[in-house]
Amino acid sequence: MKTVILEINPTEKNLKNHSGIIQGGEIIKEGGLVAFPTETVYGLGANGLDSEAVKGIYKAKDRPSDNPLILHIADVRDVEDLVEEIPDHAKLLMERFWPGPITLVLKKQKQVPAQVTGGLDTVAVRMPSHPIARALIAAAGVPIAAPSANRSGRPSPTLAEHVTRDLAGRVEMIIDGGPCQMGIESTVIDCTGETPMVLRPGSLSVEEMEELVGTLQLDVGVATAENKEKDVAPKSPGMKYRHYSPEAQLLIIEGEDAEVQKKFIEMINSAEANLKLGFLATKEMVSQLQDHLVDHSVKVLGSREDLGEMAANLFRLLREFDEEDVDLILAEGLPLHGLGLAVMNRLRKAAGYQIIRV
Ligand code: TXA
Ligand code: MG
Repeated sequence: MKTVILEINPTEKNLKNHSGIIQGGEIIKEGGLVAFPTETVYGLGANGLDSEAVKGIYKAKDRPSDNPLILHIADVRDVEDLVEEIPDHAKLLMERFWPGPITLVLKKQKQVPAQVTGGLDTVAVRMPSHPIARALIAAAGVPIAAPSANRSGRPSPTLAEHVTRDLAGRVEMIIDGGPCQMGIESTVIDCTGETPMVLRPGSLSVEEMEELVGTLQLDVGVATAENKEKDVAPKSPGMKYRHYSPEAQLLIIEGEDAEVQKKFIEMINSAEANLKLGFLATKEMVSQLQDHLVDHSVKVLGSREDLGEMAANLFRLLREFDEEDVDLILAEGLPLHGLGLAVMNRLRKAAGYQIIRV
């Protein structure tokens, strides 16, 4: 299949009349696949009410079919056609944070195909804020089912180039709208119970949601992220798969700053000479270790003052290490508050939970 790659400027006025958006909407209506930017990561979209089109997503990504998809809508009211009921806490969250990086899991209506929900009786819904995403959903006139637009198991794409690398020849169209602003996927929250439960930490921090609706529950898959216990089954099916992985081996060093520095130096000095080493650390750590890092591939995740910057950079940097054929990446652990929870959740998964605590 020939993939059309189309650049669209997200700040352009009147996107809904853009010929590329109209063409993308047509492809979705006809059952095809269009990758598009959102404020979190690029998504791979298909008509969310067409089970054959949805099957195409799983095929293009090589994604296991029991891992359900998120339905993306362009207008808050569109959620009413997809779900049975909207509990009060879910209403509050929608009113405050939509459009934005939060996905709500609610009881599904019959018309939502089982292929979207992996056979569950719930459906995940999100209204993105990215202007291209909104215009495309409106042009398609249907909810768009869209997982992240990476091959299954690879880091999520934050640039159109990442999507092209993973999916060219497998999808009808890729819309290049530049870099995704947030860089980590949406926060997934189950609103079917008494207390909302965080199934996947993401670009909206737990603290921000708690200010609005009170203390949230954390699913075991999130709460035990520190300690991968094989017999724990997370409620969000996607959380159980090996994920976000670069090809290089990844090791995380967690602990007090001075101890982490010592461990880094020890590992550099004892590494085999033919091993290509990579470093993924904060600006502060890199500047302290500078003299030890020459000859190695060093990538600055961001400043400790700005967890948002680190979230925006993470997936792109993991992919860059692969381009450089690095064998072993040593990464600095981050604090677990704010966006740090989501960044560390992805980093620990990418590392296959190989963590050295010092
Ligand atoms: O930011 C995002 O959420 C991006 C953009 C494209 O919107 N999408 C995304 O989709 O990350 P995906 O498919 O990569 O991740 C969806 C997550 C998975 O962990 C999946 O298991 C979970 O949401 N999920 C979907 N439907 C669910 C349901 N009914 N119950 C529990 N978890 C669900
Ligand atoms: Mg994904």
